[in-house]
Amino acid sequence: MQTQTIDFLYNFTGTVGVFMILVAYWMLQIDKIKPHGFAYSFVNLIGSILMLISLMRFWNLPSVIIEIFWIAISVYGLRRYYLTRRKAAGTKQALLINKGTSMKFFVDTADIDEIKELASTGLLDGVTTNPSLIMKSGRDFIEVVTEICKIVPGDVSAEVIATDYKGMLEEANKLKKIAKNIVIKLPLTYDGIKACKSLTDDGVKTNVTLCFSANQALLAAKAGATYVSPFIGRLDDIGQDGLDLISDICEIYDNYPDLKTQVLVASIRNPIHLLQSAKIGAHVATIPPKIIKQLFKHPLTDKGLDAFLADWEKTKQTIL
Ligand code: E4P
Repeated sequence: MQTQTIDFLYNFTGTVGVFMILVAYWMLQIDKIKPHGFAYSFVNLIGSILMLISLMRFWNLPSVIIEIFWIAISVYGLRRYYLTRRKAAGTKQALLINKGTSMKFFVDTADIDEIKELASTGLLDGVTTNPSLIMKSGRDFIEVVTEICKIVPGDVSAEVIATDYKGMLEEANKLKKIAKNIVIKLPLTYDGIKACKSLTDDGVKTNVTLCFSANQALLAAKAGATYVSPFIGRLDDIGQDGLDLISDICEIYDNYPDLKTQVLVASIRNPIHLLQSAKIGAHVATIPPKIIKQLFKHPLTDKGLDAFLADWEKTKQTIL
């Protein structure tokens, strides 16, 4: 290449580089543009690279070092922008849950036989477990939860035992590897909510359990929980109407459409609990197997069926 052309190219890159650095500097004067945001870092990076190319002509070490420093600053800004975007995407993914137009039925047990039987109805949307249910099953926690996840494709809640933030995250990290449909169950404590927020930001589904007040449910929703589990039976046990809590939580969540947490009614003790929760519009109910089976029953159904079968006998017909 001719010397003139080379000179022209060096001058051209240098001029464009200076122009872009000035634009980057001007951008910093605009309130909305952050020093570590995409726009500033990108323009500054391109400007600095062009300047560096242009400066190579003189090989002036201090200038080259300054340009490399600006390139490093820009790369840092772009990396920061990328990490923030990735975190936001994780939060969005965890929050982009379909609240659905139907009430979901979860079974509240770690008994494999019961789960298999109920799953065969095709009505089961998920499973919840807790340390007491694991104890009742008499099985190894990880082993039984792994088996449940294979039987039911829907969400399966597995509860952490740690009570501190770091410990909860460590346990969650192990539990989430069991299967794709694992939901990390966390207690509604200060550390539990903090852990919920971190897991949500990482795109992990969570179920905040042991919720006994509407304010607690609000905290869970603010932390981006996938589910909040208000324990209605245990409130009834102490003379407080558990269903009032479900109404309050649903009302609050309805007031703020950005709160995507689903109300998972827990500690259900009878079919009326389920009926009232459905009337209020709770998104999910976790129901003990015995109560799920009770839902199918009505004495008039049995009586009516007996009468139909007796009359059919009299016709002496068969269908097949
Ligand atoms: C479910 O997630 C809860 O752990 C469960 O419903 C608690 O029920 P209980 O109050 O009957 O123990």
